[in-house]
Amino acid sequence: MIRKYSFGEHFDTEAVVVPVAEGEVLPLFSTRQTPEGLILHCKLAPEDIVYGLGETVGPINKRGHKYISYNVDNPHHREDTVSLYASHNFLVIDGEKTWGFFLDTPARVIFDVGAADPDVLRIRCTGGVTVYAIDGAGAYDVVRQFLSVIGRSYLPPRWAFGFGQSRWGYKTERDIRKVVDGYRDRGLPLEYVCMDIDYMDRFIDFTVNKRRFPDLPGFVAELKTRGIRLVPIVDAGIKIEPGNPVYDEGVEKGYFCVDKDGKPYGAAVWPGMTHFPDFLRSDVREWFGSQYKFYTDQGLEGFWNDMNEPAIFYTEDTKGCRKDALEGEDDEFQKDTNICAYKRFYHRPNGQMLVHHDVHNLFGYGMTRSSGEGLSRLMDKRYLLFSRSSYIGAHRYGGIWTGDNGSCWEHLKMNVRQMPSLNMCGFLFSGADTGGFGGNTSRELLLRWLAFSAFTPLMRDHSALLTRKQECYRFSGTEDFRRILTLRYRLLPYLYSEFMKAALEQDMLIKPLAFVFPEDPAVRTIEDQLMVGESVMIAPLTDKGRLTRKVYLPEDMTKVFYTGGEFVCTPAKKGTQTVRAELDEVVFFIRKGHAMPVGKPCLCTAELDMTALALLGDGESYELYDDDGFTKDCGREHIRLLRRE
Ligand code: GLC
Repeated sequence: MIRKYSFGEHFDTEAVVVPVAEGEVLPLFSTRQTPEGLILHCKLAPEDIVYGLGETVGPINKRGHKYISYNVDNPHHREDTVSLYASHNFLVIDGEKTWGFFLDTPARVIFDVGAADPDVLRIRCTGGVTVYAIDGAGAYDVVRQFLSVIGRSYLPPRWAFGFGQSRWGYKTERDIRKVVDGYRDRGLPLEYVCMDIDYMDRFIDFTVNKRRFPDLPGFVAELKTRGIRLVPIVDAGIKIEPGNPVYDEGVEKGYFCVDKDGKPYGAAVWPGMTHFPDFLRSDVREWFGSQYKFYTDQGLEGFWNDMNEPAIFYTEDTKGCRKDALEGEDDEFQKDTNICAYKRFYHRPNGQMLVHHDVHNLFGYGMTRSSGEGLSRLMDKRYLLFSRSSYIGAHRYGGIWTGDNGSCWEHLKMNVRQMPSLNMCGFLFSGADTGGFGGNTSRELLLRWLAFSAFTPLMRDHSALLTRKQECYRFSGTEDFRRILTLRYRLLPYLYSEFMKAALEQDMLIKPLAFVFPEDPAVRTIEDQLMVGESVMIAPLTDKGRLTRKVYLPEDMTKVFYTGGEFVCTPAKKGTQTVRAELDEVVFFIRKGHAMPVGKPCLCTAELDMTALALLGDGESYELYDDDGFTKDCGREHIRLLRRE
């Protein structure tokens, strides 16, 4: 059952889309209003697990850590980092009883999940908040109830599940052609190539550098004949440049965030000084979303929204403001100088004047909603969209990637643990920069990361300027990469089907084992194995130099050993066993009585033969969701039963 409890006024986030009744007294927590905001306080029992919080660092069980919901551009995050690119204020306390809480507020929230005192959960909301409290029969049930009120996940086209290659540094048509040839000449699967900021004219949104891309529509059409799509980046800020029609219209119609005197606020990002569209206003969202016509007119169908925390490199008015702006803030905030700027510009929804700082966490959500709604109007098929910054609600319009990570084993492990937490908050279509964005990857790290990402809906290899080149064909032993990329395509019928079913049923795709086997105490602390869809359990190898690992099976399962590019299935007994996988091999498991479809090897989804599927596992049949991959008309009528021959 879900009830809501209001504490003060706040801007309506529209995260919850289903009416929820008001409750009388907030369960579990004691509450106290203080000058610093509302404090919620509760005791944690020793065995309680705290799930949730979506895109954050650390284990699936959030206990022992402090988190701050305040979206920030932090490419150097580590194990002790408190804020990342997103704010997902939903958590579940799972012990003798289970309760879920969603702290719906656009302002900053500080979660001390047993960091100061191991037995205390203390939450401070710095602005008005509506608390949704959910009780249910276990953590999974609570999560499903939550997912049922925040609206259905965004539905990407089938090609969005293909493998994408990206790098900050591809400048010209020639650079991209080299990447495409690099993959195709070696028979390596590839679905799309991302175009980072250099495709634009001086990093200005809704422009193309004509010298670098003399005929973009022609190039888009040519690549499509090879089964490959292009995915351009779009940044949040619009460059201040009179004469640019988007800029001119934005200024004339008053669509940008303003300073205290009502003048458009300037902040420097990639193109130099920019203004930020006021994404809290529906008229501005409609206007900005309509600009994507510039791209859809050229045949583009996939997009990548960035810098939408919003990231700011500097502003003219915040030099020296640091000290007073930060007064009274948490210590951690000393590091985020953008807060000075965030206190100096305003949104004007419905005739109000709201300081950005108080509604900060909604900016990326607004951008995603704007472009998602725009693309829905502009396109007669489904679009690919993923964004960096988000708040719960954004999952209805697009996916997310987890921002700038690093090429290190710790961040691969973090990716594994983030996936179920993201799913609990509605973000089914997600994934990380595979291989790591910052720093230099290694062949081994990239292969192991690809082997994990082969099970995440968004699978993209992306790296930063000036780092080691990270395309799969840059490394020796191409065959190893071919096998892992091919695995992704062979799993795709299952992944696509499971994703669509989970999205349509407002369920999770990737879950902790404890959600599926709640009666088995041994799985409660397992964080390095995950359930992917109804039938599959994965146990990724995430340690440098290690070919083996221990896996716990909560029941008898079918062990699938993907070796030599083929699936070798054997029965495996409940309990712990050691598995071994070379860099071109992957081990995963299929639940007892379940079957999973796999396809034939192919280079892209256009070549994927959905009529030639084999069933792995000991189950007799599988319910396959399958449509044309584009239709907006998605529903249960696309599900059919596959039976073993
Ligand atoms: C940001 C993005 C990254 C991108 C870079 C250049 O750091 O997170 O993915 O490559 O900007 O656009």
